[in-house]
Amino acid sequence: MGKIIIANHKMNMSLPEIKDYIDKVSKVSFDMVICPTSIYAPYFIEKGIKTGLQNICFEDNGPFTGEISGKQAKDLGAEYVIIGHSERRRIFEETNDVINLKIKKALENDLKVILCIGDNTYEDKKEVLKKQITEGLKDVKGEVIISYEPVYSIGTDIIPSREELTDTIKYIKSLFDYDVKVIYGGSVNLKNALELKDIGGLSGYLVGTASLDATTFIKIGEVLL
Ligand code: PGA
Repeated sequence: MGKIIIANHKMNMSLPEIKDYIDKVSKVSFDMVICPTSIYAPYFIEKGIKTGLQNICFEDNGPFTGEISGKQAKDLGAEYVIIGHSERRRIFEETNDVINLKIKKALENDLKVILCIGDNTYEDKKEVLKKQITEGLKDVKGEVIISYEPVYSIGTDIIPSREELTDTIKYIKSLFDYDVKVIYGGSVNLKNALELKDIGGLSGYLVGTASLDATTFIKIGEVLL
């Protein structure tokens, strides 16, 4: 399989902007997944665009006001789900245990899981990543995609050096007993796309801010894939 590019829109864009975005990205031929704010997901799905959610609940249904389940996401036609994004971990206080339950629910419902892991500058990288992987994937049967997103790189225009990133990808892969796909996220943009394209061991990229403008996102995809 070739490389993949994933857009994480977070909580952005109006409905007219989404419709315009869909017009532009539906012409693209490279392997792309869009993770819009969940209420916009059906607009992408009905156009045949691969779509992911940015989060799901740890249960399939029940009294969980405000939540969306993996089962509902699958029924709708979503293919992917991002789990454990650093904003969910930090702002919504998601622990590795909760993330573990969400991953299991996603896989049970046949969704492809993009598990985000990432360290901050002041942390012991290997220790943090290992804990996020072992606790997040405890008793998980089935494969996931790992999105390595150093917390200091998200929305900051700072990316790890080539050596650092290459080492980290190798380290992440060494923690798996299958050939895990590792993608990179954190300030991926047009300026650094060429540099990132060259990093060995990556199966793709997750783009936040720079994915909000369809034209820019398409240009980044054209460079990276
Ligand atoms: P960014 O976000 O591209 O704006 O840094 C990436 C992410 O949060 O996944």
